[in-house]
Amino acid sequence: MTTRMKGKRLLGAGFALGLVLAMLSANQVAADKYEHLAMTPPMGWNSWNNFGCNVDEKLIKATADAMVKTGMKDVGYEYVNIDDCWHGDRDANGRIQVDKERFPSGMKALADYMHKRGLKLGIYSDAGWRTCAGKPGSRGYEFQDAKTYAEWGVDYLKYDWCETDGLKAEGAYMTISRALKAAGRPMVLSICEWGDNDPWKWASPLGQLWRTTGDIYACFDCEYDHGTWSSWGVLQILDMQDGLRKYAGPGHWNDPDMMEVGNGMSAEEDRAHFSMWAMLAAPLIAGNDLRNMSKETLSIVTNKDVIAVDQDELGIQGFKLKSKDGVDVWFKPLANGEWAMAALNRNNHDQTFKFGFRNEKIVDDLTKREVDFNAEIYTWQDLWNKDNKGNTKDLIKTTIKRHDVLMLKLTPKGAWEHKKPKGH
Ligand code: GLA
Repeated sequence: MTTRMKGKRLLGAGFALGLVLAMLSANQVAADKYEHLAMTPPMGWNSWNNFGCNVDEKLIKATADAMVKTGMKDVGYEYVNIDDCWHGDRDANGRIQVDKERFPSGMKALADYMHKRGLKLGIYSDAGWRTCAGKPGSRGYEFQDAKTYAEWGVDYLKYDWCETDGLKAEGAYMTISRALKAAGRPMVLSICEWGDNDPWKWASPLGQLWRTTGDIYACFDCEYDHGTWSSWGVLQILDMQDGLRKYAGPGHWNDPDMMEVGNGMSAEEDRAHFSMWAMLAAPLIAGNDLRNMSKETLSIVTNKDVIAVDQDELGIQGFKLKSKDGVDVWFKPLANGEWAMAALNRNNHDQTFKFGFRNEKIVDDLTKREVDFNAEIYTWQDLWNKDNKGNTKDLIKTTIKRHDVLMLKLTPKGAWEHKKPKGH
């Protein structure tokens, strides 16, 4: 073999090796997160909205017990998530400790407690030096922390974005995603940088859900200005989801934040909030005190029909069809040719709502699914009022209460049987 040929061969081998390496590194990126987790939007509970920093193992265990006893587990709630403030300091080896006064039995015992009951445990950390409540963050300790969480048996990590000076969000979340993968225990990664860096554009290979906005609070139509940041009401957060539906799907969800159902809004507002989160295919993470819920709150968070809309296997986020007289009309494509529809009264007063299906054409730009109610008939079922049923041949005329919702499921019943004119 001539030197030239050898050179060529070497070049070829080098090229092939480069190709393999390039493929490997591409695979590595694709393999950052655990696939097949959260194929429908995660359901569970989180301590923050109602308890803030006031968390301890007694509360977490009692919440798990309540999730089982109230029937929430039976309708799909699974994760019991401790938000900020479970942390103690790091030990001499840098290993994160729990706050021993609040969690004397340790995190592993709590994870075991959940697993025995068929539930899962979630915890919280932060990409920065400190968490938003000033506890030790994971910056510089990502792989060690992920390993510790895996040893504890943790199933879900919410990862916040306070004190992250100099960090780039995508890179920081890539680091923790790889750290979780390296730790070897499948864990849902809940990305929480408040939508500041358009996570919908980069977070899908890294985590299972990403916050799209700043924090929610228990108010239907409000902004709470904290000076450098604001918390938002249900309507404000809903409006901020505009344009994001194409980024969501099985295993990668837009997260419009945890729920405030049962935290002080009216029953109508709670119902509307829950319904719209279902229309958004949002994670359903309850944020109220499960140990002391009113019957009404429980009936809202356990409405199986509404949950089924959220958890529909296609995982397609709904869209706003139109807005008229302060009522937003939303549609969400479901499996088996069904649709969910929600009419949301944003007004501060009760509102008459008229909807003639046959005057509407439903066209979903994303999935290309269409409905022509002049060609096809659907029956509908009101998901909050079992006795209310109808079909799309008829006009809907009803009153929707202030800040309430009318939510329907539409099921195809076949083609219109147009009577043929005589003589044909
Ligand atoms: C941020 C998050 C909240 C909560 C708090 C905890 O504000 O967005 O959801 O986790 O931190 O300090």
